[in-house]
Amino acid sequence: MDFQARLAALTHELRPWAPLWSRSILQGWPESGAAYPGDWLAHARSLDEAGERRLDHGELVGAPPPSLSALMGTLQELTALPWHEGLHPLTVTETQGLSAKKAHELERVLALLAPRTGFIHQAVDIGGGMGHLARLCARTFGWTFHSIDRDAALQDKGQRWLAKTRPQGGDTLNFIQASVEDGLQPRIDPLFSGRDRASIGLHTCGPLALTQLRKSQGAGFVLNIGCCYDKLEAPRDFPVSRFGGAHPLPFTPHALALTTRGRHHKSEEEFARMKRVYAWRFAFDLLSRQRFPERGFVRAGDAPRTLYDGPFAGYARDRLERLGLDANMTDAELDAFEVSVRAETRDLLLCHLLRDRFARALEVVLLLDRALLLEELGFQVELLQLFDPRLSPRNLALIASRGA
Ligand SMILES: C[S@@+](CC[C@H](N)C(=O)[O-])C[C@H]1O[C@@H](n2cnc3c(N)ncnc32)[C@H](O)[C@@H]1O
Repeated sequence: MDFQARLAALTHELRPWAPLWSRSILQGWPESGAAYPGDWLAHARSLDEAGERRLDHGELVGAPPPSLSALMGTLQELTALPWHEGLHPLTVTETQGLSAKKAHELERVLALLAPRTGFIHQAVDIGGGMGHLARLCARTFGWTFHSIDRDAALQDKGQRWLAKTRPQGGDTLNFIQASVEDGLQPRIDPLFSGRDRASIGLHTCGPLALTQLRKSQGAGFVLNIGCCYDKLEAPRDFPVSRFGGAHPLPFTPHALALTTRGRHHKSEEEFARMKRVYAWRFAFDLLSRQRFPERGFVRAGDAPRTLYDGPFAGYARDRLERLGLDANMTDAELDAFEVSVRAETRDLLLCHLLRDRFARALEVVLLLDRALLLEELGFQVELLQLFDPRLSPRNLALIASRGA
């Protein structure tokens, strides 16, 4: 894939829309809503529940404004990435105790590694947790494997697991408890260097992915799957490539948070639930602005699930109490308030549905920049979709190789 052309085209498309994707809708309301073109909002307002749900899936229905359909079509094209096909089936014993998500991921990672790593003899897993991947790689490929994690308790659990399932002849797996940091670390740095060494990071949170890539410049093979992009800081962590530096985007903490949204297709029930959660949150925000304007934006936080099933008053009372506020309103008045702001809370929802259209494109931009960093370091690079996003939404794998 021509990563440069893809990044240039995506950043060119996204830049003019930065006022939409870089700001929080709720915190900047109502000014934030003014960034949404009037014909987009008018179209969104015309949708029934089924149409809203299709918009949430990235589909337009009816007669959408040409600027919206053109943008969505282009973003869909520019975020399309090849899939890695195939899996390495695990035995019942191998999957014992693993979640469906973890087993799904491991079967695909092993299948991806098998044809690409014939020249590898040693590997290191950064943020390896309990060492499931390390254990399976050591047994499948016969590699000497070092699983590094800063969490000693997780590694202890992994050691016990290993002891229970140790095959005849033993394992070639070592746990190293260490925090992997940028800068020199003489104890662990040599593990990342050598043409017969693979460096692997499966769901490396935030900037840990970048630490892995930088430490692995001398490795023969690198696999990184990132997550928690909201833990990144721009400009420290984006752009990281020279080419990305020439095609910057204003990544704010709100934009980074947008890249971490789960984007699987929601069932009717899941969509209805999301709408209810948003409706209560937005109405509470409008209530607190009206009653406590001096408090500015008030973070309502996550309420117990059951509170979204009942009337607004129950939810609002719980949140007010948690925040130490007294609105001096009866339940009937709280419920009547919610009804009175429904047109506004629906607009807030529609703006969110429209803003979510940018999420995947922003995530792909972050990964294209990382792919370009690896190319600039001399690797041959692939960027593939590896996991079913319904099970594991952070499903993009960066694969870099120097060959034999
Ligand atoms: C999202 S979990 C992924 C665990 C495992 N790779 C998996 O896929 O199940 C991230 C892991 O990275 C570890 N971690 C985070 N930052 C780290 C650092 N700087 N050095 C070492 N480990 C780190 C955490 O303790 C955690 O186990």
